Amino acid sequence: MLSKQDNELLTRVGPGTPMGDMLRQYWMPFLFPYEVEVDGPPLRVRLLGEDLIAFRDSHGRIGLLGNNCAHRGASLFFGRNEESGLRCVYHGWKYDVDGHCVDMPNEPPESNFKTKIHHAAYPCVDRGGMVWTYMGPEVPPPPLPDLEITFVPDEHRFLSKRVQYNNWVQAMEGDIDQSHNSFLHTLVHPEDDKTARANVTLIRAQDKHPHFEVLDTDYGVLIGAGRDAGDSMRYWRISQFLMPFFSMTGPYGEDPSRTWRCWVPIDDENVLVMGGIFHPLRPLTDAERNRVGLPRLGTRGSVFLLLPDDRAPATSQPYGAWRPKATLENDFFVDRDVQRNLTFSGIPEFWAQDAGMQMSMGAIYDRSKEHLGTTDLAIISARRRLIDAAKALRERGATPPGVAHPEWYKVRGAAVLIPAEQSWVEATAEHRQYHPDVNHAGV
Ligand code: FES
Ligand SMILES: [Fe+2]
Repeated sequence: MLSKQDNELLTRVGPGTPMGDMLRQYWMPFLFPYEVEVDGPPLRVRLLGEDLIAFRDSHGRIGLLGNNCAHRGASLFFGRNEESGLRCVYHGWKYDVDGHCVDMPNEPPESNFKTKIHHAAYPCVDRGGMVWTYMGPEVPPPPLPDLEITFVPDEHRFLSKRVQYNNWVQAMEGDIDQSHNSFLHTLVHPEDDKTARANVTLIRAQDKHPHFEVLDTDYGVLIGAGRDAGDSMRYWRISQFLMPFFSMTGPYGEDPSRTWRCWVPIDDENVLVMGGIFHPLRPLTDAERNRVGLPRLGTRGSVFLLLPDDRAPATSQPYGAWRPKATLENDFFVDRDVQRNLTFSGIPEFWAQDAGMQMSMGAIYDRSKEHLGTTDLAIISARRRLIDAAKALRERGATPPGVAHPEWYKVRGAAVLIPAEQSWVEATAEHRQYHPDVNHAGV
């Protein structure tokens, strides 16, 4: 559990909050490059509680401007994207991607008023098939994190995103909580699993209380979840939490693709889940690319990404094209017959099983009411790292972990089956290292 005070500190991300200030020290992905065209329509964006407008100018540069025009506050969403800038349609003020007011046609030509205006503008960079922005104070901004998914060629990668209507930490905690795999995502009869994960499903069914070991690292938290696999062997699944909002889980099978997620706070009560699968060494096959859409036993599809068929009709609101159909209002399409006979949850989509539980807690759960057990160790550590970093920045101006060390992000998740007495930390040391030519199999 957390005190109400720490819960507030952990979850609030608006300008001027300790956590909001801390998160603003990091680059964050929020857009796919194809979502904004040269001189095309601007797009509404919301990040860390700020309403913003994204557009691509005549030179192909991406701009991210404050929503409200510096003149009298009309929304730049309605702006004309023309000749290297976004022009407010109310009185014609025009801004370039750096927030300079480059034209002020309602003032006399001899006026230099426009040179005094600087509109909120955040730098954007296209890296790894995603557009990243930096909303912090440093000029120039720090380097982007060296995440493996951003290094591989486009053909090695499949990316998607979706909106989830609850606090970002509440959602991210689900990804570093390995114990729910024995329940939420499993089958009523685990032996019926005929997928490549069948052996892991059985191990999880037989040992439902993984033993957690958690290590603080430079970049975040290294999480080992060990389960008895019989014959004096243990199955260890290694997840990574990387400051401040990245997560990686271990791979499955012989020739694994890998997963990566980023839990981008839209505001205190909404999160943008950016995620992808990728293969370090080769292009994804069509089957792998479609894996996110292939029915897994007992689920209708998607391992964790939102597929086109699962999206609600697009709107022009922030991330309006990335809203799932399944939501609290329709109970995530839970089917009680399926729950009785086939899957533990009865919720058809894999990602919706997670989202359903996290949204059912309410937008921001009051963590002073929790009763945390031994399998919640990783969550406790990750919260502590976030809170400590926010306080250290607020009290001492300390640069948060990883901001100045992009190389710390060159790590991987892992999964191994090893003799029970062996150390998982040693056994997975190689597996957890990024290497451009090596990819260790999972289990
Ligand atoms: S409000 Fe934008 S130009 Fe007047
Ligand atoms: Fe899950």
